[in-house]
Amino acid sequence: MRNEDIAEAFNLSGPDYESSATELINLAASELIERLQLSETDDFIDLGCGPGILVAHAATKLTQGSAVGVDLSRVQLELARDRFRRAPLQQRFIQEDASATSLPNRSADAVGLGLVLPYAERPQQILKEATRLARLGGRVAATVIGSPFLGSPGMRLLGLLERRGVAWPEVELQFDPRHAVQLALLCEIDGRRLDDVTIEEIEREFWWDNFDAWWRMLRSFGFLPSGRDQMLENIARNLREDDRVVDPDGKVRCAVKIWLLSATVSEGDPWL
Ligand SMILES: C[S@@+](CC[C@H](N)C(=O)[O-])C[C@H]1O[C@@H](n2cnc3c(N)ncnc32)[C@H](O)[C@@H]1O
Repeated sequence: MRNEDIAEAFNLSGPDYESSATELINLAASELIERLQLSETDDFIDLGCGPGILVAHAATKLTQGSAVGVDLSRVQLELARDRFRRAPLQQRFIQEDASATSLPNRSADAVGLGLVLPYAERPQQILKEATRLARLGGRVAATVIGSPFLGSPGMRLLGLLERRGVAWPEVELQFDPRHAVQLALLCEIDGRRLDDVTIEEIEREFWWDNFDAWWRMLRSFGFLPSGRDQMLENIARNLREDDRVVDPDGKVRCAVKIWLLSATVSEGDPWL
């Protein structure tokens, strides 16, 4: 997805991004923050911060540290700034591309990338930027929604998109974990690299009260191709009547896999 389209999608989502999948977003954030093993004086950078959910989970731990959130979306940044307006935490939120920030080398003890990598045309650039920003021994952690994408309802959606010739929605919805680990292992920059790379899978069932709430979530995450309104209307009509998508009680239940990649920044030749 191009940066302008990402910014536009999340400007349009506004507060719907967070409210459309609160539990999912918070579970992913709390697990990610746990892997960063923050201590109270740490400086934390959140790349692709959205409305500041990772910072919210980190804030209680960073009593004497700081947090910087980076995002392309003006509206998400405003939501983040509002969220922490009265918070004691030293924090700021800047509008920049997470793959090429103006932040100094080695300025963070921990860097988080919450549900952001699949939006990037070159996700490795964001991981590389995280490595550049982290101090030696610092921690980097990232979450992505894994495959099968949003369980059976998500796979039905992908199937219908493919059948209509949209081979791959604009966001690369499915992210292969082995690929993510390979990307992480190739992240050398400034003599430093990601080490002890691990990937974990967290699987939970989430549900949306009705089809419209589920569809709103897909839109808020930028998971629906833009400028294809007629086609999407047809697909929505089709899915609304599909019992593999909507349960008899009207709810949409999805078994969601969250992949959590975590690593430590180290220096020197990995083979020595
Ligand atoms: C799905 S939201 C995730 C928000 C938050 N990190 C979370 O854990 O809920 C993705 C966010 O990443 C931002 N984003 C995507 N690509 C970006 C990039 N290259 N630079 C900065 N922000 C980016 C989007 O604007 C959006 O706010």
